[in-house]
Amino acid sequence: MPETDATSNDFASTSLARAAEVPVPEADAIAGRFPLTANPSPVAEDERAVVLANLHFGDYFTDHMAHARWTEAEGWGDYGVVPYGNLSLSPATAVLHYGQEIFEGIKAYRHDDGSVWTFRPRYNAARFNASARRMALPGLVEEDFVASLVDLVRADVAWVPSGQGESLYLRPFAFASEAFLGVRPSKIVDYYVIASPSGSYFSNGLEPISIWVSTEYHRAGRGGTGAAKTGGNYASSLLPQREAYAQGCDQVCFLDDVLQENLEELGGMNIMVVDADGTVRTPRLTGTILEGSTRSAIIRMLRDSGRTVIEDTISLAELLAGIESGCVSEIFACGTAAVVVPLGRLKGEGFDVRIEGNEVTRHIHDRLTSIQAGRAEDPYGWMYQLVSPRS
Ligand code: COI
Repeated sequence: MPETDATSNDFASTSLARAAEVPVPEADAIAGRFPLTANPSPVAEDERAVVLANLHFGDYFTDHMAHARWTEAEGWGDYGVVPYGNLSLSPATAVLHYGQEIFEGIKAYRHDDGSVWTFRPRYNAARFNASARRMALPGLVEEDFVASLVDLVRADVAWVPSGQGESLYLRPFAFASEAFLGVRPSKIVDYYVIASPSGSYFSNGLEPISIWVSTEYHRAGRGGTGAAKTGGNYASSLLPQREAYAQGCDQVCFLDDVLQENLEELGGMNIMVVDADGTVRTPRLTGTILEGSTRSAIIRMLRDSGRTVIEDTISLAELLAGIESGCVSEIFACGTAAVVVPLGRLKGEGFDVRIEGNEVTRHIHDRLTSIQAGRAEDPYGWMYQLVSPRS
């Protein structure tokens, strides 16, 4: 079970949060570890402009991708930034059969002076390695993980959008690429980072979303892979997510698999509850919940601003009672892709309730996105410059 202290105001209360505090050398010092092989046929400038003028989430990809390969015999090698393109895989490639795979999500933001920054890259590097451990995949040197972001973003800097709420979404991932059918950890692993210029995750931006609480399905179980960022957790969320759509909802929320009564997380986001007295609560990390970077940053910002934040179990029954009595005033979801978005409706077997408030949610959204966009001071040193204004 991850170490965590439910009420501590000591921010470095988990190993990922502590890892994120270790400074990364500046980008110029680690750039070039993934040498560039330039795409001979990049997307034309006018075509790119059309894409950048109408951004959704995750529909378009840039001209390059970062790549490295690990073999059991040699370790990591073959570092490079290469032209973006399809992969050629044997039908026997292990990931296609047993799902030995991990991924990350992190964004690059363009600031007004043209520079490009990312948010707490060492957090993602450390989480990538924690996921790797759970999925019996090799970890990467954290600086190399960050270097892959630096080199890819420098190669594709023209793809970093500059509109409000826009970013270049970076998707590092690694998978079992050995071709064999036995069930054992792969002896060959490929690491890639692809990049996608992106707008808002939800089509209505900051409009409140609706949630279907699944009682039939669970996202993860004790001792399973719920705390790892691995494709299987997302695959298992798809059927209940489809159920959510059928119920007229945007997202699914999962309950714990043991008591089947406590909130865990949404399909791809953490969840937070704001009480009328100003306290913010979020499910504690039980080992079945993904420890979101946005979750962790929000907890720190709120505690630093004097607000009480409690990481503890939140039962569905108590939440519904709180909404009815007015003790719960807001609920929101948070994640790298989704940022911070209010929940306006909670529906499940036997209930369908509205939540009207979103004042605190909007404040948190504005505070976080202002830091990320370089419009507000970054008192935590969270922002990491990938590309300088001169480039
Ligand atoms: C992210 O927030 O980066 C994720 O990986 C979650 C997914 C819903 C896109």
